[in-house]
Amino acid sequence: MKFFIDTANLSQIREANEMGVLDGVTTNPSLMAKEGIKGVENCKKHYVDICNIVDGDVSAEVISTDYEGMIKEGEELAKLHSNIVVKVPCIADGIKAIKYFTGKGIRTNCTLVFSPGQALLAAKAGATYVSPFVGRLDDITSDGIELVGKIVDMYSFYGFQTQVLAASIRTTQHIIQCIEVGADVATCPLSAIKGLLNHPLTDIGLAKFMEDYKKVNG
Ligand code: G3P
Repeated sequence: MKFFIDTANLSQIREANEMGVLDGVTTNPSLMAKEGIKGVENCKKHYVDICNIVDGDVSAEVISTDYEGMIKEGEELAKLHSNIVVKVPCIADGIKAIKYFTGKGIRTNCTLVFSPGQALLAAKAGATYVSPFVGRLDDITSDGIELVGKIVDMYSFYGFQTQVLAASIRTTQHIIQCIEVGADVATCPLSAIKGLLNHPLTDIGLAKFMEDYKKVNG
């Protein structure tokens, strides 16, 4: 399973990248706003900065919600760097735009997906990635991981090439559950990725190794 980091924060992206296990980055308008990035040109510069840190796919989301606007924005974003994947919302004009981008060889991430039917449309339009939002479904006492599993099974049954990118991942446990249902990618906050390292027996074992080493070597 590939790991993307879900943030627009450059220092967190650098830290995750330096661990050597990062495969890409996802951003969205909320994450860009959180970093105080405003204006089209600043956003574009920020995407290029991210692409210069990570050697992997970087999702950059369109702000337009109409077909023509999405096409214009997406084409501009795709020209910024070869690693850019144009992120498009799962609405009717978005599906149409994904189909257009697919025909032009521009890679896409269909975002805000909450049902298998939406995921089917994204795949039929040729999306490179589909992003089911795990945490937001859990928030309304639905089951986000169950949706990820359903999409993985559907794509496998019909032979779709679209990769299932589990998004709105909030916890380390979500990452483990994504592995269990066969997600292709999980995009996670840095804290959830680092949480994978935590195990008390590792800490106890390491302390004992160091203690025994010092007993003999001083
Ligand atoms: O990748 C989508 C993600 O950023 C949404 O996460 O925590 O706002 O639901 P969240």
